[in-house]
Amino acid sequence: MFGRERIEYKTPEQVAKMRRAGLVVADALAMVESAARPGMTTGDLDAIAAAVISDAGATSSFLGYHGYPATLCVSVNDEVVHGIPGDRVLGAGDIVSVDCGAIVEGWHGDSAVSFVLGESERSDPADVALVEVTRQAMWAGIAALATATRVGDIGAAVESALTGDVAYGVVEEYTGHGIGSAMHQAPEVLNYRARDRGPRVRPGMCLAIEPMATRGERFTQVCEDDWTVVTDDGSRAAHWEHTVAVLTDGIWVLTAHDGGASELAARGVRIAALTGA
Ligand code: MF3
Ligand code: CO
Repeated sequence: MFGRERIEYKTPEQVAKMRRAGLVVADALAMVESAARPGMTTGDLDAIAAAVISDAGATSSFLGYHGYPATLCVSVNDEVVHGIPGDRVLGAGDIVSVDCGAIVEGWHGDSAVSFVLGESERSDPADVALVEVTRQAMWAGIAALATATRVGDIGAAVESALTGDVAYGVVEEYTGHGIGSAMHQAPEVLNYRARDRGPRVRPGMCLAIEPMATRGERFTQVCEDDWTVVTDDGSRAAHWEHTVAVLTDGIWVLTAHDGGASELAARGVRIAALTGA
């Protein structure tokens, strides 16, 4: 998709601006997740994120992107990604995937979370497991970037994390991506192992790492609204995403409040010192 584009390598000062965008996204997602309740609509969640972004003096990466009409993507149950917020009412036990992007001084941050809504008695343990395994796959991919020589090392780690006792569908039609002065840039970041290991990992690279997994097959289709991506087999899906910077002394998770320190420490990876902030 972005195969012929050049990669944009950022200076530490540019990464610091992306960090500001990343923190706005982190705040918006934290607010949405903590406010979400059964009975609310996906449009209610969108309004919460829009307020956080505008209060921060930032703008949405998504609103108006190829005509996209909202601040968030909210994808429920068999919706994988790119669900358009509206009057859909959320129920206890729904898997809710919320994707958010923000721009600060022209620099983007992009992140997504998934959660099972409401009381734990009403949720299917298999849905909870899907959400957690997908989250772990994202962190495995991020941790792999810390020692990766090629961008493809991320996908190899993501795929391994999703291939265990339970066979999850690993969605291939949508990928992670480079990010910076535009939301979507080269290179593509696959969520699976491929023969072409992709470009070399170099300081200044900023990547959105975003596995999507299903409880069934990996195949998807786009709905009549031309945006919403659903699983072919109706199985439920989860999506997690962080924007990560490669610096000379390591990586930094720009859309995590702690820069990824706690999750990466658990995987034996220390985060870089973010300078220029
Ligand atoms: N944030 C999505 C991604 O991770 C893209 C959203 S599509 C948009 O790549 F149209 F909503 F912007
Ligand atoms: Co993205």
